[in-house]
Amino acid sequence: MLNKIANLHKLCFPDKPWDAEEFASLQRSGAQIIVSKNGFIVWRCAADECEIITIGVHPDYRGTGVADALLQLIEKEISAKKIFLEVAENNHAARKLYERNGYKQIATRPKYYDNIDAIIMEKRL
Ligand SMILES: CC(C)(COP(=O)(O)OP(=O)(O)OC[C@H]1O[C@@H](n2cnc3c(N)ncnc32)[C@H](O)[C@@H]1OP(=O)(O)O)[C@@H](O)C(=O)NCCC(=O)NCCS
Repeated sequence: MLNKIANLHKLCFPDKPWDAEEFASLQRSGAQIIVSKNGFIVWRCAADECEIITIGVHPDYRGTGVADALLQLIEKEISAKKIFLEVAENNHAARKLYERNGYKQIATRPKYYDNIDAIIMEKRL
């Protein structure tokens, strides 16, 4: 399972792939992982908040509803009051995905990813 998510992560984030050990370390820190045939999501909850740590869909399967399904799945798994995440300002596909799923921009972190702003988004459940 961890090799599979690492392989998918490399396809989704070729510049910064995380290996299986990094996912194992996330699990040890309390993160939850769902990996399906064509996508993955990793999140961690503390008290009544959850953070989406990463999400990705195999490039050949984008636009097919996999990412929507993963976001909806974790809402069934968690009992938190809000979910938050960070996304690069120029990651238009991800921002559209989150907006369509009810996430709202609440803050920005200027120049967080090298020269690109990070947008903090939140969904209240
Ligand atoms: C982000 C990601 C998970 C979305 O998965 P997906 O299957 O493409 O999701 P969707 O099909 O819902 O596409 C999201 C929206 O972005 C649009 N879109 C896709 N590529 C786009 C682009 N380059 N520019 C603008 N919009 C784009 C889609 O048309 C869709 O818009 P719609 O809601 O109006 O139809 C996927 O693109 C991915 O794995 N990206 C690489 C990893 C990543 O960036 N993860 C998020 C980190 S915060």
